[in-house]
Order: sequence, then C-alpha cells, then structure tokens
Amino acid sequence: MPPSAVAPHPLDDISLGLIVVIRERLLKAQAAGKKVYRLESGDPNFSVAPHILEAVDKAGAAGKTHYIPNSGIPELRKALAEKAVRKNGLAGVTDEDIFLTNGAMHALYVAFGALLSPGDEVILPDPMWTEVGENIRLAGGVTVGVPLKAANDFEYDPAEIEAAITPRTVAIFLNTPQNPTGAVLSEQTLREIADIARRHDLWLVSDEAYEDVIYEPHKHQSIGSLVPLEQSEKVISIFSFSKSYAMPGLRTGYIVTKSPLLRDRIPKLLRCTINGVNSLAQWAALAAVTGDQSQLAQMVSEYVERRDALVSALSTIDGVRPFTPRGAFYVWADLDPAIYERLGVTDAADLSDKLAAIGIGSAPGVAFGTTCDDAIRFAYSCATPMVKEGAEALKKALTDPDVLHGRKSA
Ligand SMILES: Cc1ncc(COP(=O)(O)O)c(C=O)c1O
Repeated sequence: MPPSAVAPHPLDDISLGLIVVIRERLLKAQAAGKKVYRLESGDPNFSVAPHILEAVDKAGAAGKTHYIPNSGIPELRKALAEKAVRKNGLAGVTDEDIFLTNGAMHALYVAFGALLSPGDEVILPDPMWTEVGENIRLAGGVTVGVPLKAANDFEYDPAEIEAAITPRTVAIFLNTPQNPTGAVLSEQTLREIADIARRHDLWLVSDEAYEDVIYEPHKHQSIGSLVPLEQSEKVISIFSFSKSYAMPGLRTGYIVTKSPLLRDRIPKLLRCTINGVNSLAQWAALAAVTGDQSQLAQMVSEYVERRDALVSALSTIDGVRPFTPRGAFYVWADLDPAIYERLGVTDAADLSDKLAAIGIGSAPGVAFGTTCDDAIRFAYSCATPMVKEGAEALKKALTDPDVLHGRKSA
C-alpha cells in the first residue's frame, strides 16, 4: 500500500508479481547451496544457437552500436514482414507494419497504451499470464475476464466472450498457445472469435509468444490469417523471440498491425519508452529468423519429454488433475480442495508457499486470475534432469505432509 499522504497512482494497483516473489526465494535458496527445482517460471534453459551469437559479435565488431531507427532496423522489419506473411498467413503485411519491442511484454504495454482510453474494456481469458491484465490497467483499461474450464480443454469460449461484451468493450485479447493452461485455440474457435470481433467492431489483440512451442498434432494458427482484408486493420499480433529461440534475455519481440491509427501512435510510444530495441539484439533476431531453424524441433522434443514426466507424476496424485498442455511449457493442474486438509495447508497459495520452502517452484492459480484459486502451475522450461527429479520430488511432497512441511526429505 502507498503511504497514506500520497495521492493514489495507477501503479499502486499493479503488483510486483507473485511469481517473481517465488522466483527470488528459490534463487536465494539456490545461491545458499540448497537443492531447488525451478518449476515456477518460464525461462527456456537452452543456449542461444551459435549462429545467433555470431551475429551479435559481428554486428558489434562492425560498429553497429549506435542509435537505430525507432521502429526497428530495416533489415529485420523486412525479414519479419516476410515471416508474418509466409509463416503466419498475415496477408499483405509490409515492413511498415512491423514494430520491434523489448520482448512481447513491452509489445503488450505499447499495444494497449496505443489502443486504450481510460475506461475502455478488454475481454481476456481467466486464468491468464498476469502481466496482460496489468498492462491493460496501466493503459487505463478495464479487464473483463472470461473463465477457462477444464471441461472445455481450457479453450476460450466464443459464446462467453460475446456475452461479456458491453458498450465499453474495445478489444478481445487472446493468447494461443496459452500461458498458464497450455491450451491451444482451434481454427474453428479462432474463426468464431474473429467473427464476433467483426460483428461488434472490436479490436483483436493476439499474443502469439508461444507460436513455436506446440505439440503434435496441434498446430498454431494466427487469428490474423482468418479475418477478411477489411477487418485486418483491427488486428494486433504480438510475437516474441524469447521462447522460439530461447533468447528471453535479449528482450526482443514485435507487433504486427496494419492499422493506420496504430502506425501513427506506436512509434510515439516506442520513441518515448525505448527509442529502439538494443541494436545487437536486433541483429541477433535477424540471424534467428533468417537462419537455421533446427534448434526449435530439438527444443520441442525435449519439452515433450519434460511435459510427459511432469504430467505422469501429477496424474497419480489424488485430488490433482493436470491438463496435458498442447503448447507452451506449463502444466496447469486443478486441485480438489480436499487435498488442502490432507496436506495441512489452507489453500493453493499456501501449498505453493510450502513447496517453495522445500525448494520446489510453482505458481498458484490466484496469480493468474479471479476464477482459479484451486489450481497450480508448474513450468518445465528448466533443464530436463531438473524437471524429471522435480516431478519425483513433487509427487512425494504432494502425497506426504511430512515431506511438504520439511519434516522429512523428498
Ligand atoms: C503469454 C505471454 N506473453 C508474453 C510474454 C512475454 O515474453 P517476452 O517479453 O519475453 O517476449 C510471456 C512471457 O512469459 C507470456 O507468457
């Protein structure tokens, strides 16, 4: 809470993030030499591919360390426009429709900042990666959550989206593959959502940060590829290099939009927030998007191995109902409240707290929304042996209160 003498400020309603708090705790334990399982946050453990690192070296040696064009270096904007057309099916996208940002996180900040006026409502899934709602609120917007349900494979329900529309609704936000549930929206659902947006004249903000982290037989589809040409000016597509190329520390993402209004507004926000993404990171991104893509398939096959280890460990536990993710790298598990009493905890947040105390990272449902208190998320983006060992430790902690409460080792 802010000091009482200080006038309310929009930032006072923004948290520092529950997952960040858990992460700091585990990092501290790790630094003190304790065994930890980093199942709390989504940071791909893989090394950046050599050709991407070489591009950084080369650009640095060539003196490409000066101010760069605000919306991105021309070479990268061109490559990304081609990628958006070829891979995402976003018809007619040109260099001018691409805006480089400091990761997809900053893309969300910029997109909502450029789009929203105070009081504008945005419909979003509940649960949802917290920072989406925070960025909507930072821009003065109001979040309207639509619950995702296990019975529906955590797909965003078009009928419920339509029912949530009010005269103040400006945009529908969607995320596929989804964090935290690992759900993937089918083409049919995407078409229905696009149709709702068209009929109600709403914007579509599509977060596709996990477009490449998807498991057979599921396929990623960009909603922007399914809308008629006249609607494409009301679509904002957001992408990231963090997950596709395991380079989250290089902080590179981008917005694709054909909206003339946003083409005017976005560069202003970019200029005033970053004045261009780090030049070396952009040369790295160019090498990533134009170079050898084989690392991706290797990463995905390792993610499958980790996913299966975690899901099979969790599936054996009474009162824990994991959803097998179809994309991204998180296992979302609904919890039967009976498990709290059995384990001697008050709720999922308390359970997550106790797990952190014995070195097992997680994120409780409450970190992601208002309708998912009885759920917990485990990330499997840390190294495969850590995920496998962590899954076993988790199984013991969730079945034996003595292990969970640190009276017996896992
Ligand atoms: C759904 C979603 N969107 C966007 C991001 C932001 O990614 P970055 O800023 O690293 O590109 C994340 C990160 O975890 C995410 O889960």
